[in-house]
Amino acid sequence: MIPSETIEQIAAANDIVEVIGSYFPLKRAGANFKALCPFHQEKTPSFHVNSQRQTFHCFGCGVGGSVFRFVMEYEHLDFPSAVRKLAARVGVPIVEERAAADEDRQHEARRTLLKLHAEAAEWFQENLLKKPFAEAARDYLKNRGIDKQIAKNWQLGFAPDSWDAFLKWALEHGYSRSQLLQSGLVKPRDEERPGNEVYDRFRGRIIFPICNDVGEVIAFSGRLLESDPRVAKYLNSPETPLFQKGRVLFGLHKTKRALIEANCAIVCEGQLDLISLFEAGIKNVVAPQGTAFTEHQARILKRFVAEVVLCFDADQAGRKAAEHSLDALLQHDLIVRVADMPPGEDPDSLIRRNGKEEFEKRVTSARDFFDYWIDREAAVVDLSSLGAKMQLARKLAETVSQVRDPLMRGQVLNKMSARLSVPASEFEKLMTRPRSERSAESAPARSAAAMPPRHDVAVLCLLALRDEAARKFLLEQNWREVLPQISGTELLARILESELRLDDPVSLNSFMSQLTAEEEGLVSAWLLQKMPANAIEVAESWWKGLIQATLRRQLEIAETRMRLPQLTTGEVVNLQKEIVDLREQLHQISRLSSVPEPDR
Ligand code: CTP
Ligand code: MN
Repeated sequence: MIPSETIEQIAAANDIVEVIGSYFPLKRAGANFKALCPFHQEKTPSFHVNSQRQTFHCFGCGVGGSVFRFVMEYEHLDFPSAVRKLAARVGVPIVEERAAADEDRQHEARRTLLKLHAEAAEWFQENLLKKPFAEAARDYLKNRGIDKQIAKNWQLGFAPDSWDAFLKWALEHGYSRSQLLQSGLVKPRDEERPGNEVYDRFRGRIIFPICNDVGEVIAFSGRLLESDPRVAKYLNSPETPLFQKGRVLFGLHKTKRALIEANCAIVCEGQLDLISLFEAGIKNVVAPQGTAFTEHQARILKRFVAEVVLCFDADQAGRKAAEHSLDALLQHDLIVRVADMPPGEDPDSLIRRNGKEEFEKRVTSARDFFDYWIDREAAVVDLSSLGAKMQLARKLAETVSQVRDPLMRGQVLNKMSARLSVPASEFEKLMTRPRSERSAESAPARSAAAMPPRHDVAVLCLLALRDEAARKFLLEQNWREVLPQISGTELLARILESELRLDDPVSLNSFMSQLTAEEEGLVSAWLLQKMPANAIEVAESWWKGLIQATLRRQLEIAETRMRLPQLTTGEVVNLQKEIVDLREQLHQISRLSSVPEPDR
């Protein structure tokens, strides 16, 4: 828990124009600033930064909010991390409330681990670039087309062929055995009694630092110089508090921007594939590092792109990885295509041999995953046998079921049924319901929150956020009783109950920090919207409209209940009273002023 005063202090010290301007250039447009939106693809700028209110909003995709929201979205951070990042930027210290002692220790341990990784990466790199014992490694990389500049770009390094060179260096630099063990950079000689005797995990290997999406080194992968069938070609850091393999996409910190621009991710298997493509100018690349996509990685990718092109090796392992990636990718509505690699080639070798254009051609002509898959299955299954055909249909249907988007699912279904000449209706019967749709039912709140409120409620939100007099009027009404009865007014209630100081950007930013991304998008839009001239009158009339609508709805319910059979006399009397009362209230209101008929 970061105290709200600290959050306000951090918001006040970080000018949103400066912060966003440090990520990409902003153009002045009157009192505001504009740019191409970094969160969706567009040709004319609809991304606005408002320096007076200290908010941003994109009229194209609806994302918007405070400076914290921007950093959260752009850097894919959670709220506390975004706050910390901005605090560090302006040197505001964060003293967390109720930070339990062990939570503190955890943070501290994490910081130490990050520092260790950063320093280790430097040490490995220093070895590679300067030390005589890395001669062979330098030659090897040169042979593979990795020159000095590329090695520097990716902070490549070399771990000497020694049991304890790294260990000695790290102990000398103040790291403890237990910290080193936790990083996975050293291993216990005896797993039963860890800590007693330890040795370097990476020995005689070229080192590829693995970064998180903000570019901090969180793990390493090491490659042997020469292939040796007895030892694994690549060796990775184990899972540590910093590194969970299934949550990291190699290269993402460098390729983010290109992914957004292309709206398409080229997915290759390994580090060297990715580096070769990137350095050849194909920058919208990620690598899950030799494994199938996890659900988590797919979710990360979906935030940047709508489509992926799998460029896995043409070997058995590559095909398996492609197939196993599919479910995770489909569940996040990603369009999946497969680029064929010639036998024995991978993106790295291919782009070196044939160049960028050839590779791009392959990506452009990559087939839809389902076409690719049918062809492959059809090659091994005798489709003239009905039994075999239905078995294949069942298998395919299971996967088609994972496609969440109904339009896309329909298309795939038609294609499959045509290719197998199984009627679409038959094929549909074989399908189960998509997993995500099932889970969506258990969480209806999320989609409701994303829905913009009805027009009348939205106008009241706008006024409560922007106009002192209108806000005062609304606060004097019985909103605490009324709003809970009307669905879709939760955000209005939050705006009213917050102790917002209108026109104070710091207070606005602090208020927004309590909202969901969707809510924040709505609020940031309202902040930029034109205000009606006579705010207080507008507020009065919409508020009355809202009350009227509620009364009418109650009246309707009571009248419907009156028509139910088998009511007791007591019930009838009560309902009649209620109806008379509601009619009277409605009559009163409409006498007070002529109110616009609200849309219901
Ligand atoms: N990999 C791994 N452990 C292994 C083998 C592979 O973690 N024992 C991962 C690495 O991330 C590697 C990727 O799987 O980059 C793909 O493996 P492979 O195709 O065998 O290697 P390449 O990427 O082609 O590497 P190179 O060109 O250096 O042989
Ligand atoms: Mn390779």
